[in-house]
Amino acid sequence: MQDDVIASAVREFGTPCYLYDEALIRRNAARFGALDYPSRSVHFASMANNNPELLRLVHGLGLGIFVNSVRHLKLALDCGFGPEEIIYTSTGVRRSDLEFIADLGVHVNLDSVGQLRLFGEIAPGRSCGIRLNIDENSLGNVFIGAESRIGVLETEIPEVLEIAARYDLKLIGTHVYLGTNIVSLDTMIAGVERTLQLSNHFADLAYVDLGGGFPVPEEGVPEFDYPEYNRRITDLFTRYSAERGREIRLVLEPGRAMFGDTAVFCTEVLDVKDRPDRRLACVDASASLMPRSLFYGEFNAVDVLGRAGDPVEDKPTDVVGSTTYSRDFLAKGAKLPAAKVGDVLVFRNTGSYGYSMMTQFLGQDAPTEVLVAADGTARVIRERGGARP
Ligand SMILES: Cc1ncc(COP(=O)(O)O)c(C=O)c1O
Repeated sequence: MQDDVIASAVREFGTPCYLYDEALIRRNAARFGALDYPSRSVHFASMANNNPELLRLVHGLGLGIFVNSVRHLKLALDCGFGPEEIIYTSTGVRRSDLEFIADLGVHVNLDSVGQLRLFGEIAPGRSCGIRLNIDENSLGNVFIGAESRIGVLETEIPEVLEIAARYDLKLIGTHVYLGTNIVSLDTMIAGVERTLQLSNHFADLAYVDLGGGFPVPEEGVPEFDYPEYNRRITDLFTRYSAERGREIRLVLEPGRAMFGDTAVFCTEVLDVKDRPDRRLACVDASASLMPRSLFYGEFNAVDVLGRAGDPVEDKPTDVVGSTTYSRDFLAKGAKLPAAKVGDVLVFRNTGSYGYSMMTQFLGQDAPTEVLVAADGTARVIRERGGARP
């Protein structure tokens, strides 16, 4: 987003605020729409961003939605998604919630032997999917493999099949969570290949659902190669469908990649402390309003609005919140021009897991969310202090 657009939105709507760029949202959605494999559906993962206006936008762009809670299921229905456009996948779903989901006719992927049995008791004869814990782990993360808490292990599949037969359930799909922010295409494809291998256990297979994975572009990190992804996933699913003797639907659940790089978070400097080794810029926000650092100890790139041409200070800048919490850092060691009171700091790549991950323990109002259209017009899509996720 251009500095003049940001400056004008900040003047009009104040800080702190999240500013979303509609053109980038459309571009990101189109990436998935452009995949060549014909039998596919793309379901945005609502945990990454739960703004109702943005969910309506995504729905209008032809995407479905994946939810992991009844609260988000109801939100999706309110935002215009039909039950057939919603995928419900979670862990440890309560019986009454599973009944509600089954009554609505929303498709569900069950996470365990126990959950499958429960679904069988509630809705015998129905179709559903099963969540698999794949052991392919080239990423070396906690999302898949032995460390992961998600899905059933390969050794449990015989019991899964036995329960499905007992309740006449049709296991028409497999679901995996591949991980998040996977930059390497080889790593991602290795996870997909292992998923397809495990999916061979399921005679009624109609779809394979690949949760998560697509990264947010970051400076200094090679860009994810979507055209090459398109070629490889299309080839894999075409061959797999031929092997299985029917067209297997590819289901994707991007979260982070849909909004990540479409938004900036803007906050004003209220105070500056000059320390021997660094500058401390205290802003009208806190890490609880842009919580990546609280959850992951990672920081978003930051700039001083309108000061791109100014020399960068020798001393690094730490950006801190206007609270007493000693771990309230929005940036550490940033290389910036000397920030002054009244400057606006702009944090990049904050569109996913930003607002939706906020916490309330520091007692601050939720920031305003603003959508900037392609023609530069901007409008509030959630008021300051708006409903907490
Ligand atoms: C099942 C599932 N699908 C999709 C996602 C979205 O992941 P990402 O934001 O990495 O795209 C998540 C996130 O936790 C998830 O659990």
